[in-house]
Amino acid sequence: MTNPFPSRFLWGAATAAYQVEGSPLADGAGPSIWHRFSHTPGRVANGDTGDVACDHYHRFREDVALMRELGLGAYRFSIAWGRVLPEGTGRVNERGLDFYRRLVDALREAGIAPVATLYHWDLPAALDDRGGWLNRDAADWFAEYAAVCYRALDDRIELWATLNEPWVVTDGGYLTGVLAPGHRSAFEAARAGHNLLRAHAAAVEAYRAEGRGRIGVVVNIEPKHPASDRPEDRAAAARADAYLNRHYLDPLLLGRYPEELAGIYGEAWSEVFDREAAAVRVPIDWLGLNYYTRNVVRHQPDVWPLAAARVRQSRSIHTETDWEVYPAGLEEALRWIAGRYGSVPLYVTENGAAFYDPPSPIDGRIDDPLRIAYLRDHLRAVGRALAAGVDVRGYFVWSLLDNLEWSHGFSKRFGIVHVDFATLARTIKASGHFYAGFKTNHEGPAYASNA
Ligand code: BGC
Repeated sequence: MTNPFPSRFLWGAATAAYQVEGSPLADGAGPSIWHRFSHTPGRVANGDTGDVACDHYHRFREDVALMRELGLGAYRFSIAWGRVLPEGTGRVNERGLDFYRRLVDALREAGIAPVATLYHWDLPAALDDRGGWLNRDAADWFAEYAAVCYRALDDRIELWATLNEPWVVTDGGYLTGVLAPGHRSAFEAARAGHNLLRAHAAAVEAYRAEGRGRIGVVVNIEPKHPASDRPEDRAAAARADAYLNRHYLDPLLLGRYPEELAGIYGEAWSEVFDREAAAVRVPIDWLGLNYYTRNVVRHQPDVWPLAAARVRQSRSIHTETDWEVYPAGLEEALRWIAGRYGSVPLYVTENGAAFYDPPSPIDGRIDDPLRIAYLRDHLRAVGRALAAGVDVRGYFVWSLLDNLEWSHGFSKRFGIVHVDFATLARTIKASGHFYAGFKTNHEGPAYASNA
């Protein structure tokens, strides 16, 4: 097959502020909901916190040098809202902004395009005290913060993303409670989701007033496949699809919520959301898709609120987070988005896998053949989508570095660069070398197979 990757394809890797930076309160920053959550006993595995994480806050120059060694064309990172506005609104903390100014300057000097996400889950705690995403004013708070970032950084940012994975924010943060702020309420999840969308629209509008580059949003997608042809399993898969995949994309790109949501949320759904859905559809320049796995789904009435359960595929390989490895789902997701939502340029803004790696390198090396196979097969899936005519403009591995995997703490490693959390030493894994090679020759010859 001829090389399907265009020459201007953006090859990158991604991280998020709370997961890698460390020093969450340095230089006048205000605490986030993740700082509070991780400092609450029992919330994060092993009591891990982001207090040090990868110390990217101090070691970003070393990390930019690693990106260079990996031949990356782009780095997707997130800005910690509380570094920029310690109280969430009002007073701007220039010292916090300076960190991002230094980071993007270092990236530009290294010839790496900065891709900035404004919200990767670390809401300022001061705003949570005012209701957080449950407060309708959150849209204005977010637009105010976004505008400060645009003014400080827009001339050096390649792509802006408003939100990372609004579905995870609401499902993990407000419905199941496994992520900050750790609530368990369908009423709150539905409302927070709607306000996240309103906040996205407000931040895009603010960008149109003063930005010069390109702005979009990042969603996570998991194809939902029915476990059987039985009508109830098919209906369960359709509900799961509406709840995860269309919940945000339909309002963002079609201006309406999927009909199924009213049934799923029941009393917790408000007609106001449907009435306001058209207003969150504002033109975006690109769409980011995070893909990790698919789900096979069956009808199960006692599972709240979806009445659907995952059927684990015992013959498949699963990652350390127990996610099925299913590369064909990435091609499926890309084609599905292009077919359903039309011609918005797409980026795979996250894709990667947690597999076991030792805490320290062995003979100076980290050999991670399972991660290499995962990346190779998913990159080939992107290649197939490109060959089929889908407008994919870039791909970002999750993650550049092993980091704080949210409530799993440091127990799950996703990096193509290993971090020894005792010494903070970095070592490029075999998968990092593979990725560097794939970008150049689109096959990674050392690991090519006929699969
Ligand atoms: C998130 C990352 C996370 C990754 C692996 C995505 O949902 O954006 O922050 O580490 O998945 O769980």
